[in-house]
Amino acid sequence: MAVKNNGVFFIMLILVSCVCVWARPATFGQDFHVTWSDSHIKQIDQGRTIQLTLDRGSGCGFASKVKYLFGRVSMKIKLVPGDSAGTVTAFYMNSDTDSVRDELDFEFLGNRTGQPYTVQTNIYAHGKGDREQRVNLWFDPSADFHTYSILWNHHHIVFYVDEVPIRVYKNNEAKGIPYPKMQAMGVFSTLWEADNWATRGGLEKINWNKAPFYAYYKDFDIEGCAIPGPVTCASNPTNWWEGVTYQALNAIEARRYRWVRMNHMIYDYCQDKPRYPMTPPECLSGI
Ligand SMILES: *[C@@H]1O[C@H](CO)[C@@H](O)[C@H](O)[C@H]1NC(C)=O
Repeated sequence: MAVKNNGVFFIMLILVSCVCVWARPATFGQDFHVTWSDSHIKQIDQGRTIQLTLDRGSGCGFASKVKYLFGRVSMKIKLVPGDSAGTVTAFYMNSDTDSVRDELDFEFLGNRTGQPYTVQTNIYAHGKGDREQRVNLWFDPSADFHTYSILWNHHHIVFYVDEVPIRVYKNNEAKGIPYPKMQAMGVFSTLWEADNWATRGGLEKINWNKAPFYAYYKDFDIEGCAIPGPVTCASNPTNWWEGVTYQALNAIEARRYRWVRMNHMIYDYCQDKPRYPMTPPECLSGI
């Protein structure tokens, strides 16, 4: 009897510790709050999914309640369908520190019906951005939910679409290239109108007759060092996101990344000679 009880106790202990280590926020309200236009964000499925609305009156946005230093954030997003030209759905991390801002951006630029959605990524390190890359998505991101993630550790920053890396920014601080690592960042998302620049450089205007526009989010997952939190967390090498398998792309990821760059990349600031007559240092080969 005693043995049996111990067994039950042991199993309960395992369950409890699993719940702590693997805890993922099930609902929006656990980790996030609305930052812009409450009336345009609706929780559905008991808060497990949210609907963002853009209409003539307003767009909307939400943010994490705390900031994080290193880790991985990911969510499943279903983007605005049909004639979405001029709409921008953004999912990003931002330190909220103006002049020395660190920021990691996913921006999904809508398009006319049947035309490909573009995802623009950008990286700000110590206040300097202007590192845009653009990839046309190889599927219709409004037909279904897809997973968009940002991995951020001491070695690199990787933007993933499902299991496919679309952008890698390595830590080359040793070569004098700025890398975000001193400031915690919050997790943000917005749905808004940007038809002055978004689709074909602002040529395609938003079609308000198709409003309201809706985007959906679910499976919110942030694993990282919450700030404020234990001060030693961010430098702890046993955090899973710092592990060997997360320090560089593996062979399969590297192949997928090459495939994206060869077949789906439509803009890379590294190749933009008129804009950058001198190649930015992080773009040089071997870096
Ligand atoms: C929209 O579709 C056009 C035509 O296929 C394409 O050139 C463009 O890259 C797409 N995306 C945006 C955001 O304009």
